[in-house]
Amino acid sequence: MDRDTELHLIERLLAHVDADTRDLAPALVERPVREYLDPVRFGEEQEALFRAHPVVVGHTAQLPEPGSFFTHDHSGVPIVVTRNEAGALQAFLNVCRHRGGKAAGQACGSAKRMTCAYHGWTYDLDGRLRGLPLADGFDGLDREAYGLVPVPVAERHGLIYVRPRPGGPIDLDRFLGGISAEVADEPVAAHLLASRSWEVACNWKVLLDNFLELYHLATLHASNIGPMFEPNRILFDDYGPNRRRVDARRSIRSLAGQPREQWRLLDHALRTYFLFPNTQTFWTQDYFSWLSVWPVAIDRTVCTQLIVADWAADTDRRRAHLQTNLDLFDLTLGEDFAMSEEVQRGLGSGANETVLFGRHEHGAAAVYGAVDEALGRWRCGESVDAW
Ligand code: FES
Ligand SMILES: [Fe+2]
Repeated sequence: MDRDTELHLIERLLAHVDADTRDLAPALVERPVREYLDPVRFGEEQEALFRAHPVVVGHTAQLPEPGSFFTHDHSGVPIVVTRNEAGALQAFLNVCRHRGGKAAGQACGSAKRMTCAYHGWTYDLDGRLRGLPLADGFDGLDREAYGLVPVPVAERHGLIYVRPRPGGPIDLDRFLGGISAEVADEPVAAHLLASRSWEVACNWKVLLDNFLELYHLATLHASNIGPMFEPNRILFDDYGPNRRRVDARRSIRSLAGQPREQWRLLDHALRTYFLFPNTQTFWTQDYFSWLSVWPVAIDRTVCTQLIVADWAADTDRRRAHLQTNLDLFDLTLGEDFAMSEEVQRGLGSGANETVLFGRHEHGAAAVYGAVDEALGRWRCGESVDAW
């Protein structure tokens, strides 16, 4: 982020502090509760948003060298992402071309070959079929035609995007818009500090709604992170279907008496980018992390978290620092998960016909404009990621 943008964001936050105001959404938004409960709608969302649209599946730090690979199943389609011997990034459906086992069974690794655990067919990291036991049983098989099926993959600023349905390339310039230029000068973290996941008994949108607003911070998280932040003192800026949000910590007030040269945004605020349809990234002084939500069933969602940094947890002090952060995440995410399950039961009760988002819940409400647009295009057979 360039210095002028950083200073401008701080000035906007301080102006809000002075006037006791916030960025507000233009109007209330109500969404039908049935969108959280309808199995037909759920199936359309899974296909349009999580398979036809690119999703963030990992980070460059997970593929540290040629020969590295990792697998990803949360879109509902098994994917393997590889860095081949030449260092090029590739992604494939992680489905053996024999009878459908997984070509790569491990979550991650470094190898020249991936071997299906069922009958032992092997593939190289370019997806080519390299070997099959008792090959005389497959006389005449055109091995070239039985490589793994490639899927579009792209890498930008450390994040790896895959579109789980085979097709044309992912246009990240168009998708990320101004976000790409804004973070271009920031270093890409080299160390994977944590990769975790949880299953939560709610619709994926219930959990996403939670991650996209700070209105709940002062109440739900009153005993931990709530008091660290200004009450919902946030900035919103839209980038197509994506969004930047800046959340002010209470310490922002100390900047009013300091020279501008000493102003540093991340000392006093959390910078986040929402990447449509399911990923919220967080930039802090000492690490970069993101949370993604993945629909498993209409009332079951997997939440994944990755944390990367430009430092490794290789000393007792750093390990303790990381653990302190993980413990705080456990505490706050535990509250978010329990509340999301409570909300899902509430929505299922039939008490409410709509989910109501106030003007402080801009992020949660705004995502549904993009969801409607993407679903509309998908129903018409058009490209979903043409933003
Ligand atoms: S299904 Fe993979 S080797 Fe048979
Ligand atoms: Fe929360």
